[in-house]
Amino acid sequence: MDIFDNYKEKKMSGTNREYTVFRHLPTIETERLRLRKLSMRDAGDLFEYASSSEVAEHVTWEHHRNISDSMHFLRFTIQQYEEGRPASWGIVHKELGKLIGTIGYHMWSVSNSYAEVGYALSKDYWNKGYVTEVFKEVIRFGFEHMALNRIEATCMLKNAASERVMLKCGLKFEGIVRERLFAKGRFHDLKMYSLLKSEWENNS
Ligand SMILES: CC(C)(COP(=O)(O)OP(=O)(O)OC[C@H]1O[C@@H](n2cnc3c(N)ncnc32)[C@H](O)[C@@H]1OP(=O)(O)O)[C@@H](O)C(=O)NCCC(=O)NCCS
Repeated sequence: MDIFDNYKEKKMSGTNREYTVFRHLPTIETERLRLRKLSMRDAGDLFEYASSSEVAEHVTWEHHRNISDSMHFLRFTIQQYEEGRPASWGIVHKELGKLIGTIGYHMWSVSNSYAEVGYALSKDYWNKGYVTEVFKEVIRFGFEHMALNRIEATCMLKNAASERVMLKCGLKFEGIVRERLFAKGRFHDLKMYSLLKSEWENNS
């Protein structure tokens, strides 16, 4: 095999890995929450929280104006699973049996072994440590099952709660990436946080 064959093989196994992970995204249990694939049955619960302009204030998407917006997002996510492309888990409150948010990898560079995590939670459940609880398991999944070397997360400059979550999960602040995101009609600076596999192994 020459270098090119090696490269082809690496690319192919990377593509296969991405395909397998999202097509067969496993359910993950934490103490209070369950991460599982989203389904069309989640439309009502999703709309309940995604229609809040406060939840949507610091994210890329607009708050959902009607249930069709929620169904559109679910259809897109389910298609992503089917095509083996990055898509979020639903966050289910185990005791209530209710979908209260989403978390997951929405960008994965297989050849560079890094991926980016995003999350959103219903306002009714903020500040109970829920996203910190599931983010830690999403990190474990990334290092143990996606062969990641680096996990990234970003937030808008005023999103102090998201920043706090990243710090509680062991991510380090790298700096401000200028005008990295175009959303809601304008460019936004983002704070870049990351965690390396070596750091995670040393602290777990
Ligand atoms: C950001 C978000 C996911 C956090 O989820 P959560 O489950 O409430 O997070 P946790 O309870 O695990 O941790 C929140 C931390 O932020 C802190 N916090 C909350 N609001 C804050 C504020 N305005 N300023 C400073 N800290 C704040 C809390 O005190 C808590 O820290 P502590 O445990 O040290 O007290 C949630 O607020 C959310 O969904 N926001 C809207 C969507 C969003 O912004 N997503 C992220 C895009 S980058």
